[in-house]
Amino acid sequence: MTNKLTSGEIADRIELWRECGYSSQEASKQAGIGRRAFDRFLERYVDKDAPISKGVFDQTKIKKIAKPRKGQIKRYILTCAQNNTNIHHQFFNNLEAYAVHIKADIKISRFTYNKNAFQKNRKQGDTDTTEETYYDPNIAAYISDDIERLAPSLIWCGNLQLSPTAVDPTSGLHDYTGPDSSIMPHTRVSMNPVPTPRRFRTKHIYTTGCCTLKNYIMAKAGQKAEFHHTFGALIVEVLADGSWFVRQLVGDNEGTFHDLDVEVKEGAVCESDCVEAIQWGDIHLEHIDKDIQSMFWQSGDSVIDLLKPKVQLFHDLIDGHSHNPHEAKNPLRQYQNHIAGKNCVRTEFEDAQWFLDKYAYRASCKSYVIWSNHDEFMRRWLHDSNYKTDHVNSKFILKNELLAREQADRGESVSYFRNALDSQKATVLTSDEGNLNIKGVLADFHGHNGSGGSRGSVKGFSKSGHKTMTGHSHSAWWVAGATSAGTCSSLYLGYNNGLSSWSHTFTVLYKSGKRCQVTANAETKKWRA
Ligand SMILES: [Fe+2]
Ligand SMILES: [Fe+2]
Repeated sequence: MTNKLTSGEIADRIELWRECGYSSQEASKQAGIGRRAFDRFLERYVDKDAPISKGVFDQTKIKKIAKPRKGQIKRYILTCAQNNTNIHHQFFNNLEAYAVHIKADIKISRFTYNKNAFQKNRKQGDTDTTEETYYDPNIAAYISDDIERLAPSLIWCGNLQLSPTAVDPTSGLHDYTGPDSSIMPHTRVSMNPVPTPRRFRTKHIYTTGCCTLKNYIMAKAGQKAEFHHTFGALIVEVLADGSWFVRQLVGDNEGTFHDLDVEVKEGAVCESDCVEAIQWGDIHLEHIDKDIQSMFWQSGDSVIDLLKPKVQLFHDLIDGHSHNPHEAKNPLRQYQNHIAGKNCVRTEFEDAQWFLDKYAYRASCKSYVIWSNHDEFMRRWLHDSNYKTDHVNSKFILKNELLAREQADRGESVSYFRNALDSQKATVLTSDEGNLNIKGVLADFHGHNGSGGSRGSVKGFSKSGHKTMTGHSHSAWWVAGATSAGTCSSLYLGYNNGLSSWSHTFTVLYKSGKRCQVTANAETKKWRA
């Protein structure tokens, strides 16, 4: 009889038993059930030795890990593992090899995914009837199901049990660790920015990826989770001053992964020129953060010289402060530009050309300027400008209008922005059609356009089925196959008032087609430990 009870009916009977002072005689009478049948029910569903109820006042305690001593670095490799599922041996061996190489602690959070609970939905042929929960013994030395403070503002939430079928695994958990960034165990790799007051460092929520194989119920939720299951981990570097860096280690099917200029393959760690492309955060040259600029491109030990990408991608190269159409009817801003000598459009484009063709240029690296919304300022400004009254820009206006007409006469496509920039080194794109495919990732979308003329969003791009890397949001995202870099500009540009999620994050695309997000710290002038 009890086999047919629903979970609600079971709960109701137990509650009735409690209300009857734990008397099965009285409860069975009230329920209209025979005493012996009620006793059998209790035997089956109630652990009489267990406490009847419990509760605590305090939130689960966060274990605090001491900061490294001065001059030292603590490193962690974080991932998760599913019950009753084998590890991806090659990937796991590579994680162990890398951990030994960089002296990192591996931490693996366990999660359960109960196939038996969904037996009705099994696909024909799925005969796995495993009931006992166990974990691959290879992970035993690394199990970490605790919540731990790895750095003053970074928390490892190994205690969380997030269903692998959750489409947005961190939804509802944005404030779970208060103002501190968090790393949560989940089979997907994701990164979400959390808007915070500007005087604080932007909070990010990361998920890890997984070190066990794919093992899902072949029903819709499981099939979607299987598609997004990523053999991945996060590397965390904590410095003595409490600052930290997090990067994604995403494995391919053979378990090979990359971390910046390192390849980990078949248990061996080798330095490698494995970076195919870097997408910088939006440039906004007039307002670029000078520390970020030096870190990324200044000759010597800059990011571009250490990682040696074959391609670099520039979004919102020009801020457009000299000809921003949104400021055209702001007389105070026009006056300020005039006094500061910042109303010369030609000068802004010459500065950008110098940056592109001299400062950031590397002979071994192809540069692309991605068609962006700030580039469009130029076309809009020219349509509304008047050479008769704008004496600072009159010759520039006439020159560019003449050039456009000559191109039109020859039947050539016209781009005012490309003409004005006149780069001798970079390829300047004038549309976003998905033509720039780098290792399987579409790289020519700035991100301002969504579908059918609507505003773009990373979540929107993630639904396209294509892998994309975009900018425009100035915030670092990773949603399924879509990533967004942050910005190279100052983290406040006068219009991102209130809370902000901007960060100095750039996207690295490896030769394997896998990616990682690198968030630089302008305060410490570091981008990795
Ligand atoms: Fe933009
Ligand atoms: Fe931008």
